[in-house]
Amino acid sequence: MRTHIFGKNPVTWFRESVQRFGWTQTLTIIWSVVVDTSFDRRFGTDTTRRIPVEKIKTTSSNIVHSMKYGASKAMPFRKLMAELKLPTDGVFVDLGSGKGRAVMLAAEYGFRKVIGLEFSGELCRTAEDNLRKFLRKRPTESHVEIIETDVTQYRLSDEETVFFLFDPFHAPILKQVMQNILESAERRPRDLWLIYHAPREQQVIEESGLFTDSKLHVVLGAEFMVYSIKVDEVPQTK
Ligand SMILES: C[S@@+](CC[C@H](N)C(=O)[O-])C[C@H]1O[C@@H](n2cnc3c(N)ncnc32)[C@H](O)[C@@H]1O
Repeated sequence: MRTHIFGKNPVTWFRESVQRFGWTQTLTIIWSVVVDTSFDRRFGTDTTRRIPVEKIKTTSSNIVHSMKYGASKAMPFRKLMAELKLPTDGVFVDLGSGKGRAVMLAAEYGFRKVIGLEFSGELCRTAEDNLRKFLRKRPTESHVEIIETDVTQYRLSDEETVFFLFDPFHAPILKQVMQNILESAERRPRDLWLIYHAPREQQVIEESGLFTDSKLHVVLGAEFMVYSIKVDEVPQTK
């Protein structure tokens, strides 16, 4: 078995991290990785094991644009949420929710409603099983739902406020997703956030022109681009 930290060989990662963040931050990052590896042991879940894209089972032809399955790291996610202080009366949607790690963490944060969209039935079943186990130990008031669907086929209900992506797919899918969010914002203007973890197709979001604010948050070595727009800034077309 090969060990990786943030997808890199540990020695390369360590050298680069000390150069970029310094010793103290690097040791904190290592601690966050240790906490992460104990997540499944702590909650009895199955989230950590990665799945290469060739092994993701789905009937969607958009698998050609999909990235591999991997779970969001718990400590960076929790710390980011504590920094952002997003309103908890909103609806959090994880676009490509896999085994449900980000869904669980968003429920723990306390959003009124948390939705995970995932096109692999097998991953949805694992996520549901994980959620049952997680929520027994971390009960929440949140309404939590996993929906088996390709994200491009999901009709937004116009109550969603926070969109989360952890490097789920390439530009063609993200373009369609952005179009759907834009149309939803026009139908019902509201405060919106989009959190893009490990962003690789940022230009698609920027080209959509929807968001008025963007900021890169580097939290315990993990990168999150956070985009937002306030209700009175949403373009009105009708
Ligand atoms: C990197 S994983 C992220 C898992 C989860 N969001 C988290 O943070 O723990 C990306 C997930 O996106 C899913 N995915 C990719 N393309 C998709 C699409 N078009 N519709 C729905 N899910 C998709 C993959 O099956 C995979 O489970």
